[in-house]
Amino acid sequence: MHIADRVTQLPEYPFVTISRTIAAKRAQGIDVISFGIGDPDRETPGFILDALDRGARSAANHRYPESEGLPEFRKAVTDWYERRFGVALDPETEAISLIGAKEGIGHAGLAFLNPGDVAIMPDPAYPVYDVGTIFAGGVSYKVPMHEESGWLVELDDIPADVADKAKVLWLNYPNNPTGGVASLEYFRRVVEYAKAHDLIVLHDNCYSEVTYDGYVAPSFLEAEGAMDVGMEFHSLSKTFNMTGWRIGAAVGNAELVEALRVIKSNLDSGVPQAVQEMAIEALNNHGDWVVENNVGYQRRRDRVVEALRSIGLAVVPPQAGLYVWTRVPEGYTSEGFANTLLEERDIVVTPGGSYGQHGEGYIRLSLTLSDDRVDEGLSRLRDWKIPPPPVS
Ligand SMILES: Cc1ncc(COP(=O)(O)O)c(C=O)c1O
Repeated sequence: MHIADRVTQLPEYPFVTISRTIAAKRAQGIDVISFGIGDPDRETPGFILDALDRGARSAANHRYPESEGLPEFRKAVTDWYERRFGVALDPETEAISLIGAKEGIGHAGLAFLNPGDVAIMPDPAYPVYDVGTIFAGGVSYKVPMHEESGWLVELDDIPADVADKAKVLWLNYPNNPTGGVASLEYFRRVVEYAKAHDLIVLHDNCYSEVTYDGYVAPSFLEAEGAMDVGMEFHSLSKTFNMTGWRIGAAVGNAELVEALRVIKSNLDSGVPQAVQEMAIEALNNHGDWVVENNVGYQRRRDRVVEALRSIGLAVVPPQAGLYVWTRVPEGYTSEGFANTLLEERDIVVTPGGSYGQHGEGYIRLSLTLSDDRVDEGLSRLRDWKIPPPPVS
């Protein structure tokens, strides 16, 4: 048997390695605390589950959904965009449902890239921009991001010939894994840049609603002219504790939405309609629920930041997202430090290098474990003297 090269040549999805390490420790009876994966620990709220109960009983929902989503779902998304960002969208042509943002991001390569086409993307980054590009036979050009420039993709760092040749520019603010945020002013520059180089901008805005200290994240589509060049990916996963239900949306330029619809309609059969009804309820009727949910994350963020500072790490508290991203002590690699934490304190963190070469030297801690587990994890850190790094 010979499976395709694209399977064997892919880097292993980072969390697979972490999950295996955790499983091995747990098999030895060790209580491992994982700050690894970003998967909300709290339940989907009751008002959203009620919509599922109702939806499950409706016979119309027992049949194949459409790939593009129910008209009512698309309208709930575009109404929410109008209320939240002041962006007016046509639900018929400028919005589409996704089986989680990951699905749309993965399929985007097939919709926008021919074999050999270049997609520009940040490094470090959520791995699916790269993987979707590889699956489409495209070529990823990774732009190093740096702490000093607030983890922004500096457009001037992209060589002009790469920008001219490339077809796609991926961005993600609020950013995973770095916690970096972008201003509307930055997005305006991106629009100009995309127009100058004839680029499609694909903005992953999955963390726009998980924000702290009063920070309000913009949509890329708020920038004048953004609708001419791009689309935005959204997810209900993080905002509403809905990772298990698999629902998101892509919105923006009608031609781009249509291209994605064509790919999707040939490959998937959409999001279960009862789940779309959950999303409609979430978007239309969340009231203060999201704000209150974020208060819980902010408290965890503050505790994690304090504990990391107490062991000597220089942490910048993120204004958004579900992660604390911090530089490892001098002399350690990110993987070396993550391994030391696991060996000495039974704590799992994600090594920054698993998000790309320029994530090296950092670790990421997720805030999606219960308050008790956060406390237990932090108590293991507080009296910890970091051992000197191994001599190489
Ligand atoms: C930056 C980023 N984009 C997209 C996703 C995928 O979200 P979804 O659950 O909607 O597939 C994640 C999930 O971790 C993410 O971190």
